[in-house]
Amino acid sequence: MAEIKCIGVLTSGGDSPGMNAAIRAVTRSAIAKGFSVKGIYRGYDGLINREIKPFTTESVSNLISRGGTILRSARSKGFMTEEGRKQAYDNMVAEGIDALVVIGGNGSLTGARIFAKEFDVPCIGLPGTIDNDLYGTDFTIGYDTTLNTIMDCVDKIKDTANSHERIFFVEVMGRDAGFLALNSAIACGAEAAIIPEELINEDQLKEFIGHGIRKSKNSSIVIVSESPKCGAMYYAERVKHEYPEYDVRVSILGHLQRGGSPSARDRILASRLGAGAIDAILDDQRNVMIGIRNNEIVYVPFKDAIRSDKSVDSRLISVLKEMAI
Ligand code: F6P
Repeated sequence: MAEIKCIGVLTSGGDSPGMNAAIRAVTRSAIAKGFSVKGIYRGYDGLINREIKPFTTESVSNLISRGGTILRSARSKGFMTEEGRKQAYDNMVAEGIDALVVIGGNGSLTGARIFAKEFDVPCIGLPGTIDNDLYGTDFTIGYDTTLNTIMDCVDKIKDTANSHERIFFVEVMGRDAGFLALNSAIACGAEAAIIPEELINEDQLKEFIGHGIRKSKNSSIVIVSESPKCGAMYYAERVKHEYPEYDVRVSILGHLQRGGSPSARDRILASRLGAGAIDAILDDQRNVMIGIRNNEIVYVPFKDAIRSDKSVDSRLISVLKEMAI
């Protein structure tokens, strides 16, 4: 195996709070262990267009508390083509980059997996997504901050919901996964969570309304996972038609969920995983995502990390139901 001297780092896909902390950790840990580092801008597009700069420890100063990603992010269309990946590889060689650390979600690690196979490039992934949907890690970087952001928003929505005695359907992100919706519902004391994992079961709206809203409560919060077919608007419209006695409103939290300064948990997670990526390179690991399970750093092969069946803990569904009686 060729000696690794220079490590390239990039962020890709939807940004998440803590990506900057991860860039900082990768850079500082790599330099501490004798590697040089290059920052690649705008995700894989930056490899294709050669937007690459040498990084020093100073390049990542004052980053741990900053949301977003200083490297910028993109969902690269070019990298989905063979031609684009070949260009990316040629630029990597020209820049003297021997290994890549990719911070991103499912799509980004899928890209890394294909690239690594095609060109025999050592790639290490870090789970950077608010969705928490990567298999093999208990938490992804950004998830905790977003949960806290949702909680703050819903606490405020509850005030007005109470004043007007309304049902609020609050839509949260998560793509095809219900981690954000289910856990924020517990954290906010919501009456229900409508999540993609449960859509195949009984009609979640009927189940929620069927319980009736407790007489002692004068408002109700339902957290709904985003979905093109049945997001918060869909359920609100249904309540308007099927249960006209209720006063209903919708709040779609949108991209504010992705911004903000990372929580302490995310900063620590990003720092541990970033350092873990460099340890993995030293350990001759290839094509693995660095995850955390039971508070231990683990190496998860890309093929497992991108599996689409990471499931929500059904015990949490029971807890939420019990809390809402
Ligand atoms: O994967 C992260 C995520 O924020 C999802 O929760 C959401 O569905 C999607 O990205 C939104 O992407 P965009 O920023 O392109 O609208």
